[in-house]
Amino acid sequence: MGELEAGVSIKRLGQSDGGRYRSLMLRAYSEHDSAFTSTFEERAGKPVEWWTRRLQDPTTITLGAFDAGGTLIGTVRLENYQRRRERHKVQLTAMYVLKDSAGHGVGRRLIEEALVQARKMDSVELINLTVTADNLAAVRLYSKFGFQTFGREARAVKTTQSYLDKLHMWRPVSADYIAPG
Ligand SMILES: CC(C)(COP(=O)(O)OP(=O)(O)OC[C@H]1O[C@@H](n2cnc3c(N)ncnc32)[C@H](O)[C@@H]1OP(=O)(O)O)[C@@H](O)C(=O)NCCC(=O)NCCS
Repeated sequence: MGELEAGVSIKRLGQSDGGRYRSLMLRAYSEHDSAFTSTFEERAGKPVEWWTRRLQDPTTITLGAFDAGGTLIGTVRLENYQRRRERHKVQLTAMYVLKDSAGHGVGRRLIEEALVQARKMDSVELINLTVTADNLAAVRLYSKFGFQTFGREARAVKTTQSYLDKLHMWRPVSADYIAPG
């Protein structure tokens, strides 16, 4: 375990974290435009109350990674599907680790804890996510945790410059799950 990873704690974000969550995610959108479907411009226009409401939504869990000094350096979010017949599924979204803290196991810690939390969510059996097809760091991270690709959505996102394909990935939440292959 590296020095940074050893000092990192993962906590659920709540009502009092709206401001710093907003700042972190706005950095995410501006630094990694092609990794996210939402844009910096769309999200910068939302007031802090909008971010706070997101953190308070009881059908979601947003985790934060904090360094030893208490700075928020990473995040990931689980959103439970809302329709009755889809409540066995959650979507993993808004995964981000600050550039300066990337590559030190923080992303791994966030996914580990997201899996733990998903197992505690009522009736949840599986996790879905989408990832830009050429985002190799994220695809490798998810694959390490047993997420399997079940489809590639061509031209899923249209930016001002180009189309981006998205991979759709999933895994059961069960700790006993062993990914095929
Ligand atoms: C993808 C991201 C979340 C990874 O977080 P991280 O803290 O840097 O990841 P970790 O250090 O925990 O690495 C875990 C695994 O991810 C993969 N990985 C991380 N960075 C990588 C890189 N630059 N190149 C290739 N694989 C990488 C590796 O498999 C790594 O495991 P290993 O160290 O045993 O090889 C982070 O780089 C990030 O925020 N990227 C920009 C935003 C983004 O792409 N979000 C995902 C949207 S779907």
